[in-house]
Amino acid sequence: MNLILFGPPGAGKGTQSELLIKRMHMRQISTGDLFRAAIKNQTPLGKEAKGYLDAGKLVPDSVTIGLVREVLGQLKGQSFILDGFPRNVAQAEALGELLKELNLKVDTSLFLEVPLDRLLGRLAGRRICKNCGAVYHVQNKPPQKEGVCDTCGGPVLQRPDDKEEVVRTRLETYEASTKPLKEYYKAHGPYVEVNGLGTSEEVYERISKALQVKAH
Ligand code: AP5
Repeated sequence: MNLILFGPPGAGKGTQSELLIKRMHMRQISTGDLFRAAIKNQTPLGKEAKGYLDAGKLVPDSVTIGLVREVLGQLKGQSFILDGFPRNVAQAEALGELLKELNLKVDTSLFLEVPLDRLLGRLAGRRICKNCGAVYHVQNKPPQKEGVCDTCGGPVLQRPDDKEEVVRTRLETYEASTKPLKEYYKAHGPYVEVNGLGTSEEVYERISKALQVKAH
């Protein structure tokens, strides 16, 4: 099962991908995580991407598509979740070409629906481990010891792009560029929408039911 997981910032794509990779043995391909790792390691890609992430804008398509091409080319038959890619119609079209070229297939695209007022609370309260990227939330999922990652002991901090002014730009970017993908994938199916409200486990249950239906 290969999956495109998309939705607004803070909808829970990373959280659900983490559950899917553990339980369904899929590989997560998160362009956001790949950019953050490149920034941390100060690679040429990271230097190019940093300004865009800090501003809440999309990294240019040519850079992002090149990155995804590289990762998809290394999969060796493993099932994958595309988390945060594609993020606009041009990327979706490029992905279609890339899949043909690599003889791969996406089984379904899944949109995670969460209303705006809930997104703001999720983004404002999110904290991530600077070392391993584990995701926490000050209220819903705090680390056992404040500021310290349960998994690796690294520092747990706010993501720079979760500051209020950047979140505003990210949401505008989502509305203008990513939301139109709903119509694109409805037309180019299979496509499914899942309600992202409730606990992470409740959302996961809905996703796995939706995927079973699509798989048969
Ligand atoms: P990216 O990292 O992909 O950010 P995003 O799409 O804005 O998504 P988020 O990571 O903010 O949210 P999420 O949906 O994964 O939510 P999470 O599970 O963490 O991209 C960052 C940047 O990289 C972009 O702005 C852009 O600059 C660049 N970029 C990335 N891809 C690109 C592309 N394709 N093209 C160009 N540029 C690109 O959850 C959020 C919080 O809510 C957490 O604290 C979590 O604990 C909590 N939470 C999760 N689920 C629940 C629940 N059910 N109930 C309560 N709380 C919950």
